[in-house]
Amino acid sequence: MRSWQQIKGDFPFFNESGKSLTFLDNAATTQKPKKVIDAIVDYYTRWNSNVHRGIYRLSEEATDHYEKARENIAGFIGSRDPRQLAFVRNATEALNLLAYSLGHGLQQGDEVLLTIMEHHSNIVPWQFLQEKGVKVKFADINPDGTLNMEDFQSKLTKKTRIVSATHCSNLLGTVNDAREMGKLAHDNGSIFILDAAQSVPHMPVDVHMLDCDFMAFSGHKMLGPMGIGGLYGKYELLNGLPPFNGGGEMIREVYTDHSTYADAPEKFEAGTPNVEGAVGLSAAVDYLKVIGMENVREHEKDLISYTFRKEEESGIVMLKSYGPKNPEIRGGIYTFNLGEISPMSLNDNLKNSDISIGSSIHPHDVASGLDMDDVAVRAGHHCAMPLTHRLNVVATSRASYYIYNFREDIDKLFESLERIRRLYA
Ligand code: ALA
Repeated sequence: MRSWQQIKGDFPFFNESGKSLTFLDNAATTQKPKKVIDAIVDYYTRWNSNVHRGIYRLSEEATDHYEKARENIAGFIGSRDPRQLAFVRNATEALNLLAYSLGHGLQQGDEVLLTIMEHHSNIVPWQFLQEKGVKVKFADINPDGTLNMEDFQSKLTKKTRIVSATHCSNLLGTVNDAREMGKLAHDNGSIFILDAAQSVPHMPVDVHMLDCDFMAFSGHKMLGPMGIGGLYGKYELLNGLPPFNGGGEMIREVYTDHSTYADAPEKFEAGTPNVEGAVGLSAAVDYLKVIGMENVREHEKDLISYTFRKEEESGIVMLKSYGPKNPEIRGGIYTFNLGEISPMSLNDNLKNSDISIGSSIHPHDVASGLDMDDVAVRAGHHCAMPLTHRLNVVATSRASYYIYNFREDIDKLFESLERIRRLYA
């Protein structure tokens, strides 16, 4: 395997943009290697035409590129049948599609079980179903930020039709035991959906091993372009769902009074698809396959272990982090605050008309301070407000790692945090 330093050399952002940034916001989106950028340019230079439509060679070639991308990406997540993968815009769209289409079959009193560590994209689409009397429930966390499996099991009832859970929390970094959750859901007769937006990019994920019924993921978080993602489904289940968007491509026949639909995955791909995105994501998958997902996971385990060592050694008394510290159940996501940013302490600070004085520094100030040192992190609720409330904080700062991050980046993060602490002390 090439060194991680050599791998970083593949990313024009780090070598050609003129910026010298410590980029620690990979849970939000990732930079792109040259191979992905080149694949997109090559597609537009040599193959651009609409797919599945033209009776001419160029269109057939474009279709071939699109379908080969599907096969490659499906294989990457362990699917042996490319028809199990529908292209969507991102994990958010996949989850909206599932809530809408599965929602057709739900009735008043039916329940959907989520976890309190879900991203908004795995909460809000299900809440839409509350209008028809569907109950949305949340399994709680333990004090260490792991999922409370007893609570999960107690909330799994005969009325639970769907369980939809994150594989890796985008805030806590907790890696959930998806296989166990799926088994419990199936034993209960429930459909099991996995939000894999933060796991597919970072660890080996095999849909057969996990035995999920559906799975959602985004391309841009795994070196691919924005605007492309995947919805995996066991074929009978996927094909059995009613369509989400109507239009060209997803139909078999259209009459003035009704239409019939194509089979999955086309049924879920109305309109001209994002061929460039599929081709780019396929190139990203090729790139990750060469590195090896086990190696990606090991690299990030090393980074998160190193982070917790630094946290201890740094002696920054105000520093408080969230989520489990065991790298075996933790992704490369470090979420922290400088001080206790509870709603209570914020109120106290607001009374003093400066949210940064006293014993806590607001995460937005932390992120701005880090930015002054060219360290990019995300701060806020991370599209996980129920979890943020559950942690009794108003917001957090988050550093999230990927294949082009090294221990030196973490050193830089902690040096900058110490500078910020001193500034506000
Ligand atoms: N879901 C992305 C994040 O956690 C945007 O930052």
